[in-house]
Amino acid sequence: MNETPLRVRAEIDLAALRANVRALRARAPRAEFMAVVKADAYGHGMVPCARAALQAGATWLGTATPEEALALRAAGIGPDEARVLCWLWTPGGPWRQAVEAEVEVSVSGMWALREVVAAARQAGRTAKVQLKADTGLGRNGCRPDDWPELVEESLKAEAEGTLRITGLWSHYACADEPGHPSIAAQSTAFAQMVAYAEDAGLRPEVRHIANSPATLTLPDSHYDLVRPGIAMYGVSPSPEVGVPADFGLRPVMTLTASLALVKQVPAGHGVSYGHHYVTPGATTLGLVPAGYGDGLPRGASGRGPVLIGGKWRTAAGRIAMDQFVVDLGGDEPDVGDAAVLFGPGDRGEPTAEDWARAADTIGYEIVTRIGSRVPRVYVNEQPDPTDVRAQR
Ligand SMILES: Cc1ncc(COP(=O)(O)O)c(C=O)c1O
Repeated sequence: MNETPLRVRAEIDLAALRANVRALRARAPRAEFMAVVKADAYGHGMVPCARAALQAGATWLGTATPEEALALRAAGIGPDEARVLCWLWTPGGPWRQAVEAEVEVSVSGMWALREVVAAARQAGRTAKVQLKADTGLGRNGCRPDDWPELVEESLKAEAEGTLRITGLWSHYACADEPGHPSIAAQSTAFAQMVAYAEDAGLRPEVRHIANSPATLTLPDSHYDLVRPGIAMYGVSPSPEVGVPADFGLRPVMTLTASLALVKQVPAGHGVSYGHHYVTPGATTLGLVPAGYGDGLPRGASGRGPVLIGGKWRTAAGRIAMDQFVVDLGGDEPDVGDAAVLFGPGDRGEPTAEDWARAADTIGYEIVTRIGSRVPRVYVNEQPDPTDVRAQR
């Protein structure tokens, strides 16, 4: 535990993250594990989380942007330590830097295949490419109608030695809604697109489609590799899938602020911008020094929960850029006392899911938006004796 008094801090429990990786691997024992660490590891800090996931047995890291993938390599996570796949590309790359850094790149269409082939020729290297199929998400990925051309051109580039197709992959639209008809439809489409590519002659090392909810609830979707993000951070993909504890998962981030002011006010006192809260009687107010400038959702005004002195309080009135106020109902905690906004929940504090409900959003957004003004304090950095890397 870091004792430095901080206005607000996000404590990141790396032992919880490692245990979550182990729990998820146990659900997909025959699959490799790609730790999805995009968006600064969903707000948890990319490099420390990537290292912890590797210690617990992840062999792949997944990012959206090439900049994120290159930052992993720049931090010293080399190709011997982790394979890295990066999937969100725009014209211009940087394909060549990725190829030279041994980052594997995802290709969803012909424009991207042409650019990566050109970059590989310039670099004099063989690019490692994974073809992404749009099996029904309707976002990135190659539609079934365009798949034969992408496969054929990939085979030509393989024959020429400019690239190697290391993977075939896709992404579910509704795996967080168990039983949704699109799940079976996408699973079938993926199997067909993989079969087409393999019949045509591609020999991918990994075929993968499972995000967190699929890793947790759809064993048939695990193929050669699973790709969990949110569950690794101990947050549930959706209430329909369950709560983290149902799967032995523990939230990794605890967000705590130090109370900045406690004061007595009379009845009828307006609170925060717009006076959307007016004290119903004489009471005490506590000032929590965190706001939407730190990533709290303003949409949780009047609803966002916080644990102070063992009691749940809710944001009274508007959440402002840097601060919000709670009605302490006459209690007088000390200035500097902890206001726990969310954490694992087992000490009575709210969870990220509670904030998601309060803001009508998802837990993903709550943790991912915690901003750069909030210092991350890493705890339990040493690998556990059971961790894969600790045993080497
Ligand atoms: C392509 C891809 N794979 C895997 C993931 C991980 O998803 P989840 O956080 O639901 O596990 C994401 C995240 O959105 C993604 O975009």
